[in-house]
Amino acid sequence: MRHFRPIDESKPIELEIDAEIYNRAYRPYLLRHRSTEIYYGGSSSGKSHFLAQRAIEDVLSGGHNYLCCRKRGNSIAKSVLNELTKAISRLKDDHLFNSVPSQSYITCSNGYQIVFAGLDDVEKVKSITPKKGVITDIWVEEATEAAANDLKQLRKRLRGIASYAGQRIKKRIILSFNPIYRTHWIYQTYFEPVGWKDEQREYTDDGLSILKTTHIDNDFLDDDDHKELESEADPYWHNVYTLGNWGILGDSIFTNWRTEDLSKKKAGFDRIRNGLDFGYSSDPNAFIRLHYDKRNKKIYIFDGWDSTGLTNPQIADRIKPIIGDEVLFCDSAEPKSIQELRDAGIDARAVKKGPDSLLSGIKWLQEHEIIVDETLQPIINELTIWQWRKDKEGKSLPIPEDKNNHYCDSLRYSTEIERQGFFGDVL
Ligand SMILES: Nc1ncnc2c1ncn2[C@@H]1O[C@H](COP(=O)(O)OP(=O)(O)O)[C@@H](O)[C@H]1O
Ligand SMILES: [Mg+2]
Repeated sequence: MRHFRPIDESKPIELEIDAEIYNRAYRPYLLRHRSTEIYYGGSSSGKSHFLAQRAIEDVLSGGHNYLCCRKRGNSIAKSVLNELTKAISRLKDDHLFNSVPSQSYITCSNGYQIVFAGLDDVEKVKSITPKKGVITDIWVEEATEAAANDLKQLRKRLRGIASYAGQRIKKRIILSFNPIYRTHWIYQTYFEPVGWKDEQREYTDDGLSILKTTHIDNDFLDDDDHKELESEADPYWHNVYTLGNWGILGDSIFTNWRTEDLSKKKAGFDRIRNGLDFGYSSDPNAFIRLHYDKRNKKIYIFDGWDSTGLTNPQIADRIKPIIGDEVLFCDSAEPKSIQELRDAGIDARAVKKGPDSLLSGIKWLQEHEIIVDETLQPIINELTIWQWRKDKEGKSLPIPEDKNNHYCDSLRYSTEIERQGFFGDVL
């Protein structure tokens, strides 16, 4: 049971929170305070819910303003807000917080706030100022989507002194995620230097805390949930999503790529191609923008974003300022979506697909060097983990996994014109 001290004389908050509402594994972390805190592991292990619960407690106790962010701006509100709303509704006094669904913040009756922002909108992140005090806690959800540079920028947001009721408040960055692959910058920055082992559960020093959890730590799942999480047959996904281990990759489809800071080079790009893979609910739509250096057989991917839950007119609104009158190459399987983009003023065209277009498109791309801007972490992640399917003996099949290949699809669509020399149909 935790008691909150009165927030201010005019509006004292008397609230008792029962320890039973927290998963046991996380209880020791309620009062943990490190400048970097990592909560990672298998899916449905209760990470997001715990961090939402703790954010609510911190804000209630005064002096803390949270910034919650994620690479995909429009999904932050949905995922984190859901957990926050659930956490608030379990308090005995849920009127202590108010949120307006169309706005990207929640305000506590003491004036402190939880603000949401997408890392894809850097300017917005820079300009956020809470109603009262400063940002003290930054929670990056699905942090493996963020680039190393995004984190540097976020740290800058934490500069300055925060205090409350005469006490200094320590600031922190909290990262939560499923560990997708071992060569990821998060592993190299935080795990490798401390000699992290898969079987380890936690690590703490003065500045860093790491907690690994899996679905077994989540007391709020039922037997069917646990069974479903255990049943993942693919060894890579089982290792990452069920066991919460850093992924070890098998046979990646693309190894012919590297990252670079393209911010200066991009002014000279003149053979620009744009591609879009459609998605809406569970799969995201993925937009990619690249420059094709035909002579040197190089493909420079210098822009891209993905999102879920956007309608085609909303996608068009976001793409139009980027591509203007240029052509957007799309999946021919969705003529209605293409028409909707055209109605919204985008020169969207369907890419013709032959029976072996997937494999020959992959082969053509493998003959090039692909250079990705270092800020485009979701594209880097996809290129790293897209693999050939394996048979029961673990031998690679000539069939690409049909998972996490959204940018790779839009990469193929956008370069079909270069491979096949046709310009795409207006349906
Ligand atoms: N303390 C809790 N009380 C109630 N429900 C919880 C609690 N912790 C987790 N859950 C529920 O369990 C499910 C998985 O938890 P979640 O936090 O989304 O896991 P993760 O972020 O690790 O994938 C969600 O539906 C969540 O609301
Ligand atoms: Mg989560």
